[in-house]
Amino acid sequence: MKVTVIGAGAVGASCAEYIAMKNFCSEIVLVDIQEGLAEGKAMDLMQTASLNHFDTIISGCTNSYEPTKDSDVIIIASGVPRKPGMTREELVGINATIVKDVISSALQYSKNPILIVVSNPLDTMTFLAHKVSGLPNNRIIGMGGALDSARFKYRLAESLKAPISDIDGMVIGAHSDTGMVPLISKATRNGVPVSHFLTNEQQEYVIKETKVGGATLTKLLGTSAWYAPGAAVASIVHAIACDLKKIYPCSTLLEGEYNTFNVCVGVPVIIGKNGIESIVDIPLTEDEKTAFDNAVLAVKDIYKDLKV
Ligand code: 2OP
Repeated sequence: MKVTVIGAGAVGASCAEYIAMKNFCSEIVLVDIQEGLAEGKAMDLMQTASLNHFDTIISGCTNSYEPTKDSDVIIIASGVPRKPGMTREELVGINATIVKDVISSALQYSKNPILIVVSNPLDTMTFLAHKVSGLPNNRIIGMGGALDSARFKYRLAESLKAPISDIDGMVIGAHSDTGMVPLISKATRNGVPVSHFLTNEQQEYVIKETKVGGATLTKLLGTSAWYAPGAAVASIVHAIACDLKKIYPCSTLLEGEYNTFNVCVGVPVIIGKNGIESIVDIPLTEDEKTAFDNAVLAVKDIYKDLKV
């Protein structure tokens, strides 16, 4: 499998690193507009290959898409990251122009790739990817929910004082501080609902910290996070490459599922060799449904800022 990562900043490089570390992919091409950055990060990563036991060939290029020819998967990690105090939504203007441009350029060399969108505001950029690329719905995946669910599990394990491998849980809705819907009613510790162990107050804490997971890190780091976003992308690419049929919540174009039309937002999907193999339409509690519908309205409201 050949994977292109557009944007060799911290998130893009971390995607490349985690994909390479899983050793399932023959080739990764990093692309960036900053002269030498992608080439430098690719070379640095290649010098970890013998230490980390992978055979994936990683190369980099500046502003050129020819080396990305015939990519199976293209990861869109370009654009501006948020700064402390900013919402992801504030990036819509600048990132829409960048995302539109890189998708058009990349598609000149790869005819039917699977796109994984990471740039923010994620759900809006995923919708934009549909408008710009014309690719079938199943070949456009917005990464958000996979990352938010990993942060949810981290907070659950912390509050439960339990090993994280015993925790299962999902976050649907939008990849935004207000639009995430952590499905605490369905979260379990090895099959036991977490409400068996956690008070209402503890559950509220987990939900609150999950929703501001990205903002907390942006405040600490001075820019947005990269390790968990990179690992979330790598897990999705792995599921595609090995046709694993794993369930991740991802942003996808809804056409009636969850009683929602013509909007990209995070819901559970099955990921395999065709990208999104199917959308899993699960029943929600009344509160979850209200939170999900509000997230959809908020995402739709940003579409007016998209010039497509
Ligand atoms: C996050 O860390 C990258 O949106 C991103 O939440």
